[in-house]
Formats: sequence, structure tokens, C-alpha cells
Amino acid sequence: MCGIISILSKKDDVIGDLIASLRKLEYRGYDSAGISYIDDNSVLQTIKTIGKIEVLEDLVTKNQTEGVVRPPSKPSESEFLIGDTEHRSVVQQETDYEELGRGSIGIGHTRWATHGKVSPQNAHPHTSNGVAIVHNGIIENYRELKNSLIRDNFEFDGESDSEVIAKLISNHLKNGLEFIDAFKNTIAQLSGTFAIVAIYDLAPNIIIGTKRGAPMTIGLSNDKLNFYIASDAIALSTLCDEISYLEEGDYVICEKSDQLNYRILTENWESIERDKVQNTISMADVGKNGFEDFMMKEISEEPIVIDNMITQFNCDFDISHYRSIYIIACGTSFYAGLLSKYWIEEMAGIHVDVEIASEFRYRNLVSPKDSLYVFISQSGETIDTLAAMRKANQLGLDTLSIVNVDSSSIAREAGHNLKTLAGFEIGVASTKSFIAQAMAMLMLTIKKNNLDVRIIKNIMHSILLGKDKIKVIAEKIKDSKSMLYMGRGCSYPIALEGALKMKELSYISAEGYPSGETKHGPIAMIDSNVYSIVIAPFDRYFDKTLSNTQEILARHGPVIFLTTDRAIPFIEDLENNNLADCIIFHEDAVPQENQTDELLRPLSFAMAVHLLAYYTAKAKGLDADKPRNLAKSVTVE
Ligand code: M6R
Repeated sequence: MCGIISILSKKDDVIGDLIASLRKLEYRGYDSAGISYIDDNSVLQTIKTIGKIEVLEDLVTKNQTEGVVRPPSKPSESEFLIGDTEHRSVVQQETDYEELGRGSIGIGHTRWATHGKVSPQNAHPHTSNGVAIVHNGIIENYRELKNSLIRDNFEFDGESDSEVIAKLISNHLKNGLEFIDAFKNTIAQLSGTFAIVAIYDLAPNIIIGTKRGAPMTIGLSNDKLNFYIASDAIALSTLCDEISYLEEGDYVICEKSDQLNYRILTENWESIERDKVQNTISMADVGKNGFEDFMMKEISEEPIVIDNMITQFNCDFDISHYRSIYIIACGTSFYAGLLSKYWIEEMAGIHVDVEIASEFRYRNLVSPKDSLYVFISQSGETIDTLAAMRKANQLGLDTLSIVNVDSSSIAREAGHNLKTLAGFEIGVASTKSFIAQAMAMLMLTIKKNNLDVRIIKNIMHSILLGKDKIKVIAEKIKDSKSMLYMGRGCSYPIALEGALKMKELSYISAEGYPSGETKHGPIAMIDSNVYSIVIAPFDRYFDKTLSNTQEILARHGPVIFLTTDRAIPFIEDLENNNLADCIIFHEDAVPQENQTDELLRPLSFAMAVHLLAYYTAKAKGLDADKPRNLAKSVTVE
């Protein structure tokens, strides 16, 4: 959560690079953003604003071309607000209101608010007497630190926990420490999780960072003229061919003389080398490739992900000797785990429990013998999943991670890791990575040679061809206040996934239920304004799903019924019964009905519910890639 980029350069134009990297990091959080840099007059300049990077970019450009927007009269404080109340920004200068110059050292941040509301004051960087810092994570003891700083006459601008970091460094500097020692002493005072980078206007040739529990990546540009510290490798795509990941407790210090020299130190301040790895991320990986948004691009890639998983996934892990499997994850990854429970129990005959990571990590665990603990995560950084896995590791249990980002903490710390092959997923909503996670679990259940996924791909093909129909339905449902998603068996996790996507993208209250459960309460919600989305592939549950649908229709609830052509002979009644909409996808030339097809068919409907949520968000004029209040990787509790 939150994105960090920092640059120490032999050139004097870091501002453009800071903004460009922040754009790549925006998926990590986007409620506010800012940069600090030391200009060519050795003055620390800070520009920060509520809103997305484009707002920051406009502000920076405006300041560079027109000079700082001046307040009517010079305010007594070092900060002033510009812009309207919705997009208020802080331009902060430590000296006079000079035109912003160029800089060769700078830090940038895109925020997902934890402590403190979304405001310019709580946006990063935080500054104090020439020190500027950016921080990801949470400082748990910030209250006591803040109180002690207040006793030392420091004044605070906002409520953010991060603000204490800049003030602590500044306090140590005031007490005579050099910048590096001031930073180190500050870190020793902090508890919590963090990745922090700092700069100081009286040491304009030094950049320093450290990490505890939040990722940090470093790299030297190919021309050796820029040194970068970032929260993840995407920020450094196209900038460095080689990068290193810092380990827990590491510090990195880069100093500029006639060249850029950097060193990594452990928590005990001993020099250490960290492996360099190729940074293979290209612009094609992280671009929209002609699509309107990342989410649409990523949904369209779902069939490709299936192919990649079938042809390249390393599924050498054997689950057959385990008596039970526990799957632990959050959000969409949890639903992929839930879907695999149906598969593993039916096809591999192994008991499976699926649990939300934030619950698992804090409860007393009774672990039966011969159990495997599987942790599913797209980002590999979700703090609850990571903490749950660490707990299992500490107990000496067998852990396996299914992760899309193989440099992530979960991938690196798991007993065994399998990398899903979804490629970069930038849209905040998980779409293609859900398909990849489900495929990974499927391939642990059925060996590759026995797996035939034509049914999934055929239906997905038909869904993509029929996406305009989904778009029309989205227009119809976009103003509803609440929805129910229903499914039975393997369609139940798809209903949950559909409801989550609808909530997070369209802000419409949506709940997923097993169809059989609706009459135990949710049916009370049904009226002519509450849409029910029924996931109804033709399977052993079909008749029952049909009856549950009739129960909704009998109460004047509009139903969107999603099924395939195999069900056509059985739905005539339904279609005559004021159904709001029925979409029949085609299964095409699947040779014969078999038990596996029946279990696989629901997975393809994930694409339909992803598209429905996407088009509903678009119909409401919302940003499908960056839904409000969310971030792609949730590294706080
Ligand atoms: O990176 P992870 O898979 O661990 O993330 C888990 C959830 O935060 C994530 O799936 C979230 O629910 C998505 N926004 C859903 O679209």
C-alpha cells in the first residue's frame, strides 16, 4: 500500500522521473500524492496534493512553467493551500516563494490513507527543517513519539503517523547528529512496519532508506547516472536492467561524488551484498496496450492466462500424501481458494478448509497431522496473508504459496512457492489473477496430462463475443442500490467473486449467497428494485438453482440469469416469467459431458461477472482501475 520512488542523480532533472514512476505506482494507492526535491539553490521543495498523480503532475507543471502560485499575501506559516476545496494542494517551501527549480535528488509518494484523513497535510512527503521523508506502513508507537516531540516544541500539521519520522530526524540533527546517524537513531525509535526513504537539504548528495516488513527495491540506471529506491520493481521498469530487493532490516545509503556509490547495511550496520536480479518488466507489461483501462485489458487476457498456466505452470508439488489442506487468503484470492475446495475434495478426495487470513493469524490453531497450508495471494505482500503464513512457518507446518509476484515476501518466505502466470495485474480489482489462482489449484488437483480445459475456454470465448449484451445489462442495473449474487456448488464462489467486484467497482451493495441459502434470510430483501444475478451453468445443481430463481421471480425480483446453451431445453418457463435478462453462452464443440467439465464450467462465469462489474462502473462514470478507498496491495492490517 502506498508507493515510494526516490532518486539521487548525476543529472539535475529528477522531477519528471519522480512523476513518471509515481504513475506506475499509482495502483498501490491514490488518494493523495507528493514529491520533495532539493532544488539547484539547495532548498527543499515539496509539492503535495489530494487526488491522483495527474493532479500532482498538473500542479508541478504549473509551478515549473508559471512559478509557484502565490497566495494573496505571504502567510506566516511555511505552507499554504491552493486550489479548490476538493483538490486542495500544499506547496511548501522552506524559504521564500521562489520559482521551483530543477533538482538532482528527490522523493515521491502516492498514498493510501491509514492514519489521518485524506488531506494535503497528511499526504507525503513529510518535512521538518530541511528533512523530507516518504513512508509506507504503520508506525505503531507514533503517539508516544509525537507527544515527546511536542514536548520538544515540534508542531504537527496533520494526524499521520508518518509525520513523526521527519520530526525525529530533524530533532536528532538539532542535537548535533549527522544525517545518516540521525536517520539510524530515528529508525531505532520506531516500532511497526515500514519502508522509509529520507533526504536532507544540508546533505544534498545522500539518500538513505530502510525497510521492516514492507518491500523495498533498489537499482542503478543503466547509464549509472541515477540511483533509485522504490517500493516495487514496477517503478523501476525501463529505468534499470538490474535491481536488488532489500532484506528485513536492511539500510541502503547512496552518496554522490564523482560517481554514485551505494552500500547496503544490515540492521546491525554490517555491510552486505544483496543479489542483483534482472528487471524484465517492460512497458508492454505495464501498459494498457490499446485498451481503455487496465481492467478491460486484464479481463480480456483471462483466456491467455489459462493457456499460460497449461503450458508453463510448474506444478511439481504433490498434494496426494496430505490428509487435509488449509487454504488461507484474503478477498478474491480467498474465493479462488474456496472454489478449489470443491475441486480438491471431489477430485482428489482430500479434506479442505478455507479461511480468511486475518482470522487465521490470530486464532488458536489446532493442526491435524499431515496437513498442508496453502497461502494464495496475487501481490504476495498482503500483510494478513503474510502474517498467517509466518505463523504457520513458525509452527513448523508445511507451507505452500500460490503467488503472482515471485519477488514478493510471501513467495520468498513460503516453504514451497508456485508462481501463477497472470502477468502484471495493474487494475486494483483482481480479475485475471483470480483465473490464474484457480488454475493453479486445479493443476494441483488434476495432473496436467489429465486436464482438459476446453469447456472453460469455449464459454469464455462466447462471453467475450457477447460482452455487448453484458454492457446493456450494466446500463439497466447501474442505479440499483443492492443486488444478490447466487450460485450453488462451484458457482457459489463465483457468486461471491461477482458480488465483491460489483461492490468494489460500482459501490452498489452486493452480496453473494449459496442459492439454497437465500430463503433463510436474504429473500426478504427482494423487491422490484433488487437485482439477483444467478450463476447457473448446467450441472447437477441446475434444477435446484432454477427453483430458487422461481422463488425470486414469484416475489417480483428481477433476475439476470447466466447459463449456457446446454440449459436451453430447461429454461423456457423461466424466460416466460418476467425474467429481467437471460444470457446464454455457448459451450461449442465439447465432445462429451463428463464430471470434470461440470466442475470446471463455473470458472468461466468469472469472466461474465468481471465484465458485468466493469461495465456497471463505466456506466456510472467511475474509474474501473482505481475504485475509491482501495489499493492493489494491502500491506496494513
Ligand atoms: O494480493 P492479494 O491477492 O493477497 O490481495 C487480496 C485482496 O486484497 C484482493 O483480492 C482484493 O480483494 C481485490 N481488490 C479484489 O478485487
